[in-house]
Amino acid sequence: MPQLAYVNGRILPLADATLHIEDRGTQFGDAVYEVCAVMNRRILDWQPHCARLRRNLAELGIMLDIADGPLTLQARRLIAANGFAECIIYIQVSRGTAKRDHAFPGAAPANLVMPNLVMTVRRFDFAQRIRQLETGISVITQPDNRWGRVDIKTTGLLANVLAKQAAKDASAFEAWLVADGGIVREGSSTNAWIVKDGRIITHPTGTAILPGIARDSLIRLARAAQLQVEERPFTLAEALAADEAFLTSTTSPILPVVRIDGQKVGSGTTGPVVRRLAELTWNEVARQTGWRA
Ligand SMILES: Cc1ncc(COP(=O)(O)O)c(C=O)c1O
Repeated sequence: MPQLAYVNGRILPLADATLHIEDRGTQFGDAVYEVCAVMNRRILDWQPHCARLRRNLAELGIMLDIADGPLTLQARRLIAANGFAECIIYIQVSRGTAKRDHAFPGAAPANLVMPNLVMTVRRFDFAQRIRQLETGISVITQPDNRWGRVDIKTTGLLANVLAKQAAKDASAFEAWLVADGGIVREGSSTNAWIVKDGRIITHPTGTAILPGIARDSLIRLARAAQLQVEERPFTLAEALAADEAFLTSTTSPILPVVRIDGQKVGSGTTGPVVRRLAELTWNEVARQTGWRA
């Protein structure tokens, strides 16, 4: 069976799933997106993903004419049509197709253009993330030269793409993006964390990081387990002197960072706080979806 995708209300083979070349997502990165984990055929944290998508659409004034209920049904329909039990679903909404012009097409405030909604599904091996808890992963650092509203999850990801490629070229898993003053903002597609003296530290939300769904979930789980979480900026020097470090995202719910720019973090192996957080994270996955490795 060919892989299937969703384009503006239709499910069709991926090879035939296309948008017009004047889609504003292509020409301007004028589009927002979500990536959700699907385990045991159930979408993890669907409500927070929907809420973030709505917030991002509102930030950019993109009027998506489909409510959460029907969107949920369409997402589930695509997952079922592909028949994958473990996968990720990618949801993208662009402002629409229009003659190339920087300003929004049509007359304000309605901007009479139909947004383009596309969804794809890709098989994903979440069990590998559990195996990686033993080995840990390495990160390198790169300057954070993104625009000033990276809290909006847009497809304008060139800086992230270049940072991730730099990591790949260095045989690292991720690039941590470092701003002026040596502040570690986040990874190119993950949130960044350190642990010092039992305290779990991550950059606060605002305009300088993406408010990750996995980040939010981990903060709740950690606090419910009486662990101490501090949302405050931390520097690269602090990260290098930390006891433990880790990253979170939808596709990497929690992974220990054991090396930064080639230098060991703590003992250079997975530490006790990350192990405890991983237990909490994967138990929550099981609670929501029934999935266990
Ligand atoms: C820049 C950036 N930070 C953090 C994340 C993690 O977000 P989430 O936990 O919602 O996957 C992502 C996810 O793609 C990202 O692109």
